[in-house]
Amino acid sequence: MAYDVTLIPGDGIGPEITAATVAVLEATGVAFTWDEQLGGMAAVEKGGDPLPRATLESIRRTRLALKGPLTTPVGSGFRSVNVGLRKEFELYANVRPAYTIVPGGRYDGIDIVLIRENLEGLYVGVEHFVPVGNDPRAVAESVAIVTRVGCERIVRYAFDYAVRNGRKKVTVVHKANILKMVSGLFLEVGQKIAGEFAGRVEFGDMIVDNAAMQLVLRPEQFDVIVTTNMFGDILSDEVSGLVGGLGLAPGANIGTAAAIFEAVHGSAPDIAGKGVANPSAQMLAAAMMLDHIGEGDAGRRLRTAIRSTIVEDGIRTRDLGGTASTREFGDAVAKRVR
Ligand code: NAI
Ligand code: MG
Repeated sequence: MAYDVTLIPGDGIGPEITAATVAVLEATGVAFTWDEQLGGMAAVEKGGDPLPRATLESIRRTRLALKGPLTTPVGSGFRSVNVGLRKEFELYANVRPAYTIVPGGRYDGIDIVLIRENLEGLYVGVEHFVPVGNDPRAVAESVAIVTRVGCERIVRYAFDYAVRNGRKKVTVVHKANILKMVSGLFLEVGQKIAGEFAGRVEFGDMIVDNAAMQLVLRPEQFDVIVTTNMFGDILSDEVSGLVGGLGLAPGANIGTAAAIFEAVHGSAPDIAGKGVANPSAQMLAAAMMLDHIGEGDAGRRLRTAIRSTIVEDGIRTRDLGGTASTREFGDAVAKRVR
């Protein structure tokens, strides 16, 4: 059996890192049928639409996509493709694992998974100005919308994830002391669902500002973190920073109708087309996809191959202080993954 996957190479370094990633996926021995589709600037140049219908239809059919980064032009009327996909497929969970691959950085032995609610909260975009006197923009107002159903879905996802992946603890991060309703509801639901998992998964809760400090001071106390949209946006970048930043940070967007896997970084226009980009983050996202479809053994092999290539073989792209090209690095990982 071959898995049907929508493949969106994307913009900038996207096609380079995606080609390297497809090669290592095929080297795992798992069979795929790739349905290549356009998105972002590449799609605008071909047909005017950054998120073409054919791409949406493909994902609706395969329910699985591996996506390269997409360039979003600043300031034009161009809507964000990533937000469009999130809404279209109800991608409610953004999952960002961060663990140390290259030893000897500021922190060693980091192993944290941050799970962010992706659809609700302050990012629903319900905002307006209130005029006062002759200033039409005297006051700005934004509404955060949090639903019980949305909270339950994301917190349950986090606890289920912990059980599936042998994780010990889930920390619910919130600001319920000040935002008594929008954050209080999230904490209340967190406590209720934690009760269902008592004895299997440890539960803790932490106020977001303290969590930001604790992540820097004592990151080893965290295992799985689950939080609302904006707090998750900020903390997930902080967590990536603990393991050396963008080049090694993968992400998954899990929804009711599909799951989309991608690197956290963008299209890196400054190095696009030069064959020097680090494909590791995209490959680690592909490993998450393997786990998601039940090919956990291949996922583990791929992660181990990436780590061994970097740490034991010392084959590194420029961003990690090496001289390997995207392709040389990809070939080395493919050799190890077989
Ligand atoms: P970026 O992540 O593309 O680049 C930031 C810096 O990191 C650059 O110096 C780049 O060369 C470097 N870098 C990123 N990925 C790398 C890799 N794999 N290997 C080696 N170096 C790497 O962020 P930036 O410049 O803010 O955004 C560029 C474009 O990407 C924008 O149009 C932005 O909207 C888009 N973007 C798309 C995302 C997505 O589709 N998921 C996510 C973030 C940004
Ligand atoms: Mg962000």
